[in-house]
Amino acid sequence: MDVDQGIPATGEQPPDVLARLGAIGVVPVVVLDDADSAGALADALLAGGLRCAELTLRTPAAERAVRAMADRGDLLLGVGTVLEPGQAERCAAEGARFVVSPGFDDGVVERCQQLGVPVLPGTATATEVLRARRAGLRTVKFFPAETSGGLAALRALAAPFHDMRFVPTGGIGPDNAGGYLRTPAVLAVGGSWMVPRELVRDRRWDEITRLSALAVRTVAECRAQAVAS
Ligand code: 3PG
Repeated sequence: MDVDQGIPATGEQPPDVLARLGAIGVVPVVVLDDADSAGALADALLAGGLRCAELTLRTPAAERAVRAMADRGDLLLGVGTVLEPGQAERCAAEGARFVVSPGFDDGVVERCQQLGVPVLPGTATATEVLRARRAGLRTVKFFPAETSGGLAALRALAAPFHDMRFVPTGGIGPDNAGGYLRTPAVLAVGGSWMVPRELVRDRRWDEITRLSALAVRTVAECRAQAVAS
């Protein structure tokens, strides 16, 4: 691993990356069909005040776009849909700062830990959370959030795990993000609602900026309510 990228060769989850995700509060989940759109997409997110993105490895363009987006010092870029340790390794070498996986895979988690890259494996049951916890993780994705029971399920799942934080993702949008964001066990929410695939494909950057700004405002309002209550 290239230490020049600020990624240590070994070690625990660097807390700064997760803290930054928590401060941002919402992680746009991107499906990119054209690697050449990466720069404009990053610009659109940043113009809306959104300073992070999860680039899913679901298209041939995705891995080619990691470097272009990660090199933006103003955007915290992670990769998602990571199914194999090799994907995590390649993307970390390209500058990805965190790794998201739809489920818990020992190989992916171990490789990320060796690389010192925070990993958010998907969990939907207490057994999966226990597994992640035993691996030393204290932050996991809750996926697929809405079809796994939504906010009620998350609250029930989080109750026994006082030291775990969750990033609910899957089926979350402007209408239901607030409930998650006001839940103390939630570090941040993930979702594609600010970056629908068609908007990215059609290069509708202004609309992505508008949706990103709305998401940022939702986070701010929910956090303000949480402080006031
Ligand atoms: C995904 O797997 O695509 C993410 O969880 C995003 O889900 P969403 O499109 O329902 O927001």
